[in-house]
Amino acid sequence: MLNETANKKISNAVETSQEGENGRITSNGYRLVTVEDLKRDAETIAMLQAANATMKALGYTEHGQRHAGLVGNIAQNVLEHLGYDQRTYQLGNVAGYLHDIGNAIHRQNHALSGSLMAWGILKRMNMSPQECALVMNAIGNHEEERGTATTAISAAVIIGDKADVHRSRVQNPRMEDFDIHDRVNYAAKRSFVRVHPEEKIIALELEIDTYYAAVIEYFEIFLSRMTMMRQACEFLGCKYQLIINDTQFA
Ligand SMILES: [Fe+2]
Ligand SMILES: [Fe+2]
Repeated sequence: MLNETANKKISNAVETSQEGENGRITSNGYRLVTVEDLKRDAETIAMLQAANATMKALGYTEHGQRHAGLVGNIAQNVLEHLGYDQRTYQLGNVAGYLHDIGNAIHRQNHALSGSLMAWGILKRMNMSPQECALVMNAIGNHEEERGTATTAISAAVIIGDKADVHRSRVQNPRMEDFDIHDRVNYAAKRSFVRVHPEEKIIALELEIDTYYAAVIEYFEIFLSRMTMMRQACEFLGCKYQLIINDTQFA
């Protein structure tokens, strides 16, 4: 289970790689691009900043480098804790980091546009076509409206994305203008994805300050997110658990 065949293939690429002038190169001449490469890449930085500027202007929560980095880290952690090989979790981090760059073009269909934008960036960096396809698929499937996890990497990116509910995402400077998304995010003082590999459980632990939002409001706005996260956890062979203020809801 856990897509062992696909993992093995990626592992082989790692095993036969060697350190070149521009990072690790596979026997096929492709480069093992990592999230660190992207964090230094001017084009990626510009696109993420543009994506966040657009979202901020539209009144959305933060969708820039902070969200990108966090989603990538969570995706990597989930895969690492579940025992996936190094290259698989590195690709989870890459896909997580790039998943929202499509917002630089438009909020609508940003998963699709972001996937194609990522292709351009990763091809330029000489990532192999097979790895590009995995990353593009994960980015293209992260939206609630039309996304489904069909690979471990896409499942991990969905989990990272849907778990990022936090006070630090609120960009609206005026609390009196907060909408329900701002209030629920502001109320979330802590959010943490805990993987229990033995029990096959992935838990989203939230601490919500009910002065700013009632727990029911979280469910009101995030029902589709929770459904998507559950599907992603089940794809990884795990049960999804939601724990809010120490009470288990799912
Ligand atoms: Fe998104
Ligand atoms: Fe996102």
